[in-house]
Amino acid sequence: MTHDPHRRDLISRTFLTTFGAPPDLWCRAPGRVDLMGSHTDYNLGAVLTLPIGRDTWIAARANSTRTVRLHSLNLGADAAFALDATGKCADHPWLDYVHGVARMLQEDGLSVTGFDGVIHSTVPLRSGLSSSAALECAVATVFEALGGWQLAPLQKALLCQRAENRHVGVNCGILDQFTSCMGQQGCALLLDCRDLSSHAMAIAKGIRIVICDTRAQRELTGSEYGERREQCETGARLLGCAALREVTPEHFAAHAHELPASVAKRCRFILEEHARVYTLAAALTTGERDAIRQLTAASFDGACHLYEIASPAMHAMMAAMLAAPGVIGARQAGAGFGGCMVAFVEEAQVEAFATAVRSHYLAATAVEPEIYPVTAAAGAERIGQNEEEAK
Ligand code: GLA
Repeated sequence: MTHDPHRRDLISRTFLTTFGAPPDLWCRAPGRVDLMGSHTDYNLGAVLTLPIGRDTWIAARANSTRTVRLHSLNLGADAAFALDATGKCADHPWLDYVHGVARMLQEDGLSVTGFDGVIHSTVPLRSGLSSSAALECAVATVFEALGGWQLAPLQKALLCQRAENRHVGVNCGILDQFTSCMGQQGCALLLDCRDLSSHAMAIAKGIRIVICDTRAQRELTGSEYGERREQCETGARLLGCAALREVTPEHFAAHAHELPASVAKRCRFILEEHARVYTLAAALTTGERDAIRQLTAASFDGACHLYEIASPAMHAMMAAMLAAPGVIGARQAGAGFGGCMVAFVEEAQVEAFATAVRSHYLAATAVEPEIYPVTAAAGAERIGQNEEEAK
C-alpha cells in the first residue's frame, strides 16, 4: 500500500500544481472494519477490529504561516483554516476533522505548524469504514512530524477521538481512532474498551475478510447513533451500573423486566454482542466455520431485532452474501443504517463469492455494490523521511 506508485505520482503532481513546490513529508492512516462488537465500544465492552489496507494519505510541506491549506483529491476541493481559529467550517465539513485535531493538540500544549497538504483516501467516505478517523489520525501524524514531538499511539487515538467528540460534535466511542492508530500489519485486534488494552489476533489460514459495500451512504451525525447511546446509558443507570460492561448476564436477567422495553432490547444486544466478541475471536483463530456462521448470524439478528440498526439495503446485502459460494458467515459493520457489511469467506472462493454477491445485490436493488477482500494493515505512520524515500 505504501508503495503504490500511481497513487504517489497523482498526489505529487497535484501537490506541485496546487502549491508550486514538492511535498517533503508523507503520512498515512488506515480505515477499519469491525469483525464483531457493534456499538460495544461506548459501553466499555470488547470489539474485534481489523485495520484495513484502505487508507488516507497526506503529503505535506510546512508553510511558515499559522494557516493550514489543503487540497482533497477525493472531493476536488481546496480549503484552509487558521490554526488560531476555533469555529467550525460550514462550507467544508471535512475540514473540521483536521481543524479539530489541531485544536486538541494545542489544548494539550503541543506546538503545531501551518502546512500545505494534499489528501487522498482509498477509504470510501461515509460507508462505515472510518474515513473520518483515518483522516484525523493521518493529520495528527503530520503535525507530529512537523512539530518534532511524538505522541504514544494510544494518546494519539484518544486525542483524535476528542477532536471528533468536541470539535466535530459526534459522540463516537474509541473504536475507530484506536484501530487507526494501533493497527498492526497482518493482525486483527481484540480491543477491550474498558481499560484500552488490546491483543493482536491472527485469523486462521484459508479465511478471508471481504467488505460488501451496500453503497447506501450513512451519516453518523444523524440522530440514531446518539439515541442508541443514550438508551444504553439509561439502561446502565437503571441497572445501577456505570456502564453496560459492568452488568452481568445474571443481573440483567433478574432486572430486565424493570426497564422500558426499548431500553431492555438495546441492553440485551450489547451484553450478547460483547460476549460474542470473545467467542468469535477464538473461532477465527482456530478456523471453526460452524461457530463463525452461528455467531455472525446471531449478531445480525440482534442488529435487526434488538438494536434496530439494519436498513433495507443491509437486508438485501445479507441475502446476497449468504447465497454466495464460499461464504462462512456475514454480518453488519460500523454503526449500521447502510454502509458496509463484512463477510468471512473461503480464500479459494473469494472471486466467485464477489461475482455472485454483485449480481444478486444488483438484481435486488438496482445498485451496483462494491465487494473486495481486505487484509490487516499497520496503524498511522509516517511513510518515509521525504518523497524519494517513500517510493
Ligand atoms: C461508529 C463509531 C464507533 C462505534 C461504531 C459502532 O463507527 O465511530 O465509535 O461506536 O460506530 O460499533
